[in-house]
Amino acid sequence: MTHRIKKILLVSALILWVSSCKNEVKEISNTQSKDTSLKDAFKSDFLIGAALNKSQIEEKDTLSINLIEREFNTISPENEMKWEQIHPQKDTFYFDVADKYVALGEKNNMHVVGHTLIWHSQLAPWMQDVKDSLTMVKNIEHHINTIVKRYKGKIDTWDVVNEALNEDGSFRTSNFYKVMGDNFISLAFKLAAEADPDAKLVYNDYNLWKPEKRGGVVRLVKDLQAQGLKIDGVGMQAHWSLEGPSLKDIENSILAYAALGVKVSFTELDITALPNPWDLDGAAVEQNYEQYENDPKMNPYPEKLSVAAATQMANRYEAIFKLFLKHKDKIDRVTFWGVNDGQSWLNYWPISGRTNHPLLFDRDFNPKKAYYNVLALKNK
Ligand code: G3I
Repeated sequence: MTHRIKKILLVSALILWVSSCKNEVKEISNTQSKDTSLKDAFKSDFLIGAALNKSQIEEKDTLSINLIEREFNTISPENEMKWEQIHPQKDTFYFDVADKYVALGEKNNMHVVGHTLIWHSQLAPWMQDVKDSLTMVKNIEHHINTIVKRYKGKIDTWDVVNEALNEDGSFRTSNFYKVMGDNFISLAFKLAAEADPDAKLVYNDYNLWKPEKRGGVVRLVKDLQAQGLKIDGVGMQAHWSLEGPSLKDIENSILAYAALGVKVSFTELDITALPNPWDLDGAAVEQNYEQYENDPKMNPYPEKLSVAAATQMANRYEAIFKLFLKHKDKIDRVTFWGVNDGQSWLNYWPISGRTNHPLLFDRDFNPKKAYYNVLALKNK
């Protein structure tokens, strides 16, 4: 080979290398540009959503609204449709904020979720005192008929019953259960289906990755199906941590629920970055955690995550979304429980006054490393 040919080959190789580097840079900057959004990236896979608080619903928090409209195609009301909020007295409904919530979803062509019709917690005090089954049935009928009919054709999915199971899969002895046994669940699904036959109906709960609790959900869904009742999905809340649950446990639950012919939704996804008391000493959740309130060990990232923790968070989100994509045919929706880190309930639970970082956007609404890792899954 002459010296001239060698030189030409070397220059061509150099040009090729430089142009491939340019492509790589372009790909990375595309991923990171604001042109892509979560909802667009995952549009052929599943819906992507966020839970909204009151000031977002009322469009007072305009920075949140901009982000919500850009990134999400489904919304859930974090608190505003719970029984104590929407039906505080026997004959009083308060629809003001719920109406605004539904209107916001409609204006943006979003999939609107109703959360939640029947839940033992945040129940109006007047319902806690009901002792006889006839009154309980009438009250549930009045509640579900009034609300579901008002939003017929506007609320696309209802969390019909929330958190009716214990960790071992048995029924929680809520006041509903004490008065009606598990009949309150079938009653709720029957009423919701009659009030809006087109709405998707979901059973929603936390820790649904646990094998024992999974067994309870499988029994519950089969029981409703055996009664000829409509149930479209299981909502796995997904309040998770950097360490757990394992992907295997999550996957086993996806498979078990999908095998029943219902869809799976991840309805309240967040990943705590902070240590929790029961991780330290195995204490029960019911314990009083005030003693930890000013303990710096329990609040290790008061400003922002360390680089190592941010990377761990990003890797955890990436692995979880990889699993979601693997089972996209079984999954309807992935909803984050909040919009930015500063707005998350995990800043005040289980210990108040901490700084948590559980979502994909930081306190200034900037996408975090976890956001880019999740989006990058669609560019691979
Ligand atoms: O609105 C009142 C305010 O007027 C009052 O001054 C203040 C004083 O504490 O409380 C405010 O209400 C709080 C409400 O959130 C709104 O911020 C309640 O105390 C507080 O208990 C409530 O927490 C909510 C919790 O459910 C209980 O309803 C969280 O924001 C909400 O994220 C959380 O969501 C639940 C899901 O619905 C079901 N799955 C679990 C999930 C997390 O717990």
